[in-house]
Amino acid sequence: MGSNKIKDCFGSFSSKPIPVFQITSITMQKLCLSISFFICFYLLSFAQDSKRFPYRNAKLPVEERIKDLISRMTIEEKAGQLNQLNGGVFTGPAQSDPGQKAKIQQVKDGLVGSMLNVTGVVETKAIQKIATEESRLGIPLLFALDVIHGYKTIFPIPLAEACSWDLPGIEKNATVAAKEASAAGIHWTFAPMCDISNDIRWGRVMEGAGEDPWLGGLISAARVKGFQGKLDDNAHILACIKHFAGYGAVESGREYNLTDFSHVALWNKYLPPYKAAVEAGAATLMNGFNVIDGVPVSANKYLVTDILKKKWGFKGLLVSDWASFQEMIAWGYAENDKDAAMKSINAGSMLDMQARVVVKYLPELVKEGKVPMALVDDAVARLLRIKFELGLFEQPNKFSNEEREKVELFTPANRQIARDAAKKSIVLLKNDNQILPIQKSVKKIALIGAYADSKDDMFDFWIAKGESKDAVSILEGMKLKFANHAEISFSKGYEINAEKNDALIAEAVEKANGAEIVLVNIGISGKMAGEDRALARPEIPENQIQLLQALKKTGKPVVALITSGRPLILTNVESLVNGMLQCWILGTETGNAVAEVLAGSFNPSAKTVMTFPYDVGQIPVYYNHFQTGRPVDSNGNGSWRSRYRDIPNKPLFPFGFGLSYTNFSYKDFKISGIETTKGGKVTASVTVSNSGKFDGEEIVQWYVRDLAASIIRPVKELKGFEKIFLKVGEQKTVNFTISDKELSFLDGEGNEKLEPGRFHIFAGTNSENVQKLDLDLK
Ligand code: BGC
Repeated sequence: MGSNKIKDCFGSFSSKPIPVFQITSITMQKLCLSISFFICFYLLSFAQDSKRFPYRNAKLPVEERIKDLISRMTIEEKAGQLNQLNGGVFTGPAQSDPGQKAKIQQVKDGLVGSMLNVTGVVETKAIQKIATEESRLGIPLLFALDVIHGYKTIFPIPLAEACSWDLPGIEKNATVAAKEASAAGIHWTFAPMCDISNDIRWGRVMEGAGEDPWLGGLISAARVKGFQGKLDDNAHILACIKHFAGYGAVESGREYNLTDFSHVALWNKYLPPYKAAVEAGAATLMNGFNVIDGVPVSANKYLVTDILKKKWGFKGLLVSDWASFQEMIAWGYAENDKDAAMKSINAGSMLDMQARVVVKYLPELVKEGKVPMALVDDAVARLLRIKFELGLFEQPNKFSNEEREKVELFTPANRQIARDAAKKSIVLLKNDNQILPIQKSVKKIALIGAYADSKDDMFDFWIAKGESKDAVSILEGMKLKFANHAEISFSKGYEINAEKNDALIAEAVEKANGAEIVLVNIGISGKMAGEDRALARPEIPENQIQLLQALKKTGKPVVALITSGRPLILTNVESLVNGMLQCWILGTETGNAVAEVLAGSFNPSAKTVMTFPYDVGQIPVYYNHFQTGRPVDSNGNGSWRSRYRDIPNKPLFPFGFGLSYTNFSYKDFKISGIETTKGGKVTASVTVSNSGKFDGEEIVQWYVRDLAASIIRPVKELKGFEKIFLKVGEQKTVNFTISDKELSFLDGEGNEKLEPGRFHIFAGTNSENVQKLDLDLK
């Protein structure tokens, strides 16, 4: 036996005895020698490798590395980089699945550049190992996922979150989502959606920021910043703004349908949020499924090359939507897969998500001279640049970290942020006689509604790795919050997606009769929010209306808690209840957030970013509409006017609407300064006071109208807002600086126009309830 001291490789001695087995110093010396030899050999071969393959040399500038790598790639490998595959699972029994085997082979052959829907450290590492160690050039893969409102901790749906108008908060939420997703190996989210929509029939309104282009731009930019940070660590991910462009205008709200609008609308209504997000540094964009000027956007050169690449100077990556290149065949724009690949790439589109037409046909298209190699190289370079800049060539598993995956997901801190976001998203639509918040003296609360106890229906379609079992239902949240104050008696009142149920209604009425206040959770399932969830009737189901009718007869105060991923038609609900809270689809912390608002621990401050129509027949209905040549009178009437004969023109709740438990009053609205087309500056100011009984936040809104211009302008356009907190009795003067950009607009070619003439400036608490002043632009 030799010494029980061990000599380490650096020659020092550890005095700790080795308990289990003894190693002689000679053996150790040999071991150290071989390790040193191995390290030297490794470093040497690495140095040689970097010399022979400059693209592997991290010390060289990225552009040099890209150039070197592209020069080594075959056209097949280039097409492979432009191929994005739906991944799935690659470990365990999945390895013998023929489909997965084929994908693994493609990765080995260098025919895949990125994958979507591969998640978790184990899976991402497994397939990344194949890409980097078994393919000829060892190019790492990018992993993408729809992280729309959280990865494991689920935040309010983006539409709800937007109602907070809380830009720093929105940014923070995206940061948390990125932190969780990146820990599980994800590099890239397909969010935020920047599509402006005026149609609540479209299921995807839940993914956006509502109907206003300017606010939509600010929110999209905040989301991009939150997801990406500086992209210089492994806790942020690439953002992807989608669906470029104008997909929110799908006719009749029907998914995948035609879009057809003017160039004036394109520039002034649909493009601004994408532009704001590009300016915020979005690394990637996604094509839409739609059509502009009769040309599918994936192959729309005007959009992709002229606007995005040339006018906006976008240097990042553009990915197709799921098989959108191939769908051009069904649209009647491409004859076959090859034609589709050619038209997309020639228009300036880049990555092919899942259609596989590029990987299949690009090599022959280039060889036949039908697609210029320069265009291919440009697209490949953009993807490689991202991979180099993320550091994936040096550390292919930089984002796949077991430790982080274990500790950073669904933490109490993340849930707290999600809860704050959820509270700030709830819109108080009606509060007769200050029925809310529930008074401390109330001892018996009836909570009715099957949704209040259905975790599955609390989550929507885009929940990444969120699990409904982890969510707090409204029933759970209420029981927890009111545990020491009041008794909560629950009954279902209706079956989800069913006919009227008399027995359930009778039971609910009985509970209501025994309570001092009745809360009824009505709405539609979270599962009805998202892609492929178009509804011709975005309404409260009939069996729930019948329940409300029965509850009204009890004479008890009734508050509707509406859970839905979009505004619904609530006109028939409004007359049956005393209070209404629009609770949207709020994610993991739903129940806690709703309970805090009901109890008054949080005073609601959200304002809807989408108009609530009075009737489905009004759709599209939006605040920034045009006056027409025959506007209605101030009461909404008049013959031979632009109006309906059976319903009002006005919506039920306008854009920007949302009540508080307190009251805010507006006074001293004035404008000072001179505005000229040569660059003057005007300041408008208004004093807002909290004249109610609760401290609270108000979102002060500024709108502008250009009364006569070379292109007709909307009756109002949001151009500013400020979220202020006022204690009871407090007041604050809020300023709005009006400069060229608030008064100008874009013509059909995207040129900015600032024209002299009369403007109205509005200040108010929502888009309808405003005060107005004139402004003359000289
Ligand atoms: C959707 C995109 C989504 C993509 C990948 C498509 O069907 O339109 O928004 O990012 O699938 O999941």
